[in-house]
Amino acid sequence: EDDTLNQWYNGHILAAKLYHHILTATEEGKAAREYLRERGFTKEAIDKFQIGYAPNSWDFLTNFLQKRNLPLSEMVDCGLLSVREFDQKPFDRFRDRIMFPIWNKQGKIIAFGGRILKEGNPKYLNSPESGVFNKSETLYYIHEARKSIRKKNEAVLFEGYVDVIAAWRAGIDNGVATLGTALTEGQAKMLRRNTDQVILCYDSDNAGQNATFKNAQILEGTGIRVKVAKLPDGMDPDDYIQKNGVERFSQDIIGQSLTLMGFKFQYFRRGKNLQDEGQRLDYIQRILQEISKLKHAVERDHYLRQLSEEFSLSLEALKQEQVQIYKSQS
Ligand code: CTP
Ligand code: MN
Ligand code: MN
Ligand code: MN
Ligand code: MN
Repeated sequence: EDDTLNQWYNGHILAAKLYHHILTATEEGKAAREYLRERGFTKEAIDKFQIGYAPNSWDFLTNFLQKRNLPLSEMVDCGLLSVREFDQKPFDRFRDRIMFPIWNKQGKIIAFGGRILKEGNPKYLNSPESGVFNKSETLYYIHEARKSIRKKNEAVLFEGYVDVIAAWRAGIDNGVATLGTALTEGQAKMLRRNTDQVILCYDSDNAGQNATFKNAQILEGTGIRVKVAKLPDGMDPDDYIQKNGVERFSQDIIGQSLTLMGFKFQYFRRGKNLQDEGQRLDYIQRILQEISKLKHAVERDHYLRQLSEEFSLSLEALKQEQVQIYKSQS
């Protein structure tokens, strides 16, 4: 049992070292180095995050692990290798991909994410779930970010490793990521054990914004105060940093995070034409519902005023509407 686990961890440590070596010090890694350089990955980031490159080969890692006397069946079980269907022969799962080690909260490598260099599907290939890798319980980089999260009493939550790494270059060392847009209660609790404030910084596309709305509820449910960093349409954190630089990201995006209610004012506007009376009334109703959920009277008052000013409505009418909402809820 214990032996198996050690073999799994050792396999991942060896693979990470090997991939990192191929990327940083070989001719085979040249195209991948070039790719990363063009995307703004610095030497420091490549080392800090142990980024690597899996060469375009079916047996490169397989042979390496075999020479190191690691049982290949175990290397298949922990997801480093795949097996050929017709004779169960092991082969390299990751080929011609930029490799990102994924750590557990104790700092052990438990999986990899691999990004294809050019176009192709899937763009990101993650290790399969295994006895040590449960995607929905993993927060990328929590093992390193934890210290800073506690010190700043704030975490920044991204969709993926590329965004965490780009933000790290901007001096944001309290960033962690779900692997994709889904957040579980377990991940929220992991954050809550370290802080009571989270800035959500997901992609500005529909998937990212819908997930922001959904994940904010989950985070709040564990007692976390949520803020939202808004990116210009069509951008993710990495895009923004590449285009505008690290200073502007930390000042104008993270530094100008919205309150959750401020985010909702924008979110429910998406795809609506507020010049249209019916859509405008729908929008106002939706915002009123959200205001009704706020715990503090002062907060409710603040946002009711904002709504009243923006749409030239009397505060009194809005408050009456709210009474209706409370009635319909009870
Ligand atoms: N991700 C993942 N598994 C997936 C899809 C995404 O782990 N099946 C993670 C990756 O860490 C990825 C992040 O979610 O970095 C964001 O995904 P996406 O927005 O689709 O990636 P892009 O930003 O489009 O990727 P890139 O910038 O590399 O083109
Ligand atoms: Mn190095
Ligand atoms: Mn996306
Ligand atoms: Mn993205
Ligand atoms: Mn991106």
